[in-house]
Amino acid sequence: MFKKNNRKKETTQAVSLITLADKSSPVSEQYRTIRTNIQFASTVNNEIKTMVITSSGPSEGKSTTAANLAVVFANSGQKVLIVDADLRKPTVAKTFALPNVGGLSTLLTTPQHVTDIAQYSGIDNLYVLTSGPKPPNPSELLGSVRMNEILQEARDNYDFVIFDMPPVVAVTDAQIMASKVDGTLVVVRENVSRKDALLKAKNLLQMVNANVLGVVYNGAKNVADQGYYYYGA
Ligand SMILES: Nc1ncnc2c1ncn2[C@@H]1O[C@H](COP(=O)(O)OP(=O)(O)OP(=O)(O)O)[C@@H](O)[C@H]1O
Ligand SMILES: [Mg+2]
Repeated sequence: MFKKNNRKKETTQAVSLITLADKSSPVSEQYRTIRTNIQFASTVNNEIKTMVITSSGPSEGKSTTAANLAVVFANSGQKVLIVDADLRKPTVAKTFALPNVGGLSTLLTTPQHVTDIAQYSGIDNLYVLTSGPKPPNPSELLGSVRMNEILQEARDNYDFVIFDMPPVVAVTDAQIMASKVDGTLVVVRENVSRKDALLKAKNLLQMVNANVLGVVYNGAKNVADQGYYYYGA
């Protein structure tokens, strides 16, 4: 008899790109609404070009939101870069079916250029910087001066840059990046997010003066029901 594989679900799973699979679905429409709201939050003096997606805890839909937003921003004609800055549980390479030989961690540890390492997704206007090999010290790397250089290069070469991050309460990575970018979105998932963790997330983001643009409410209960998203400050 074969032993059942009871290993915990592999963490590097692709998320579903509803915005590609069904452009006219209500969920895709919700992502476009979020895009519009972000575009309206952007002003001449306070342009939102770089954005962090995080949440208080695990599995709340950060990577799903980041990937689908990247698709709808690219659909609007902007040249978009999605960066897998979750160096601990990366999923972006899987989601876009790309190799993850080189990526953000490669850039952080070598003097290469973003445009050399970023890969074309196959979707018009959408480029992907995968996580790269797992480093032992993600927080130190993200907090480094080199990360600032990478961010500047990304700003110079793309219209919109989205960072998929780990949960803000567990590790400091999202807090570090939120302090460097123009705006931060916090994903909240029905029946998953905890009120105390959310409060803590809010405090942690406030502590670094993050520009929290709003909350994405990821309200689906199961995979069959593709869910309902809304956006509000
Ligand atoms: N609204 C939804 N409806 C159904 N399934 C969803 C929904 N949002 C996310 N999921 C599923 O839940 C799982 C976790 O989502 P996702 O990877 O986007 O979360 P995450 O916050 O990035 O997780 P992690 O903390 O591990 O990085 C994935 O399998 C994803 O497909
Ligand atoms: Mg994720």
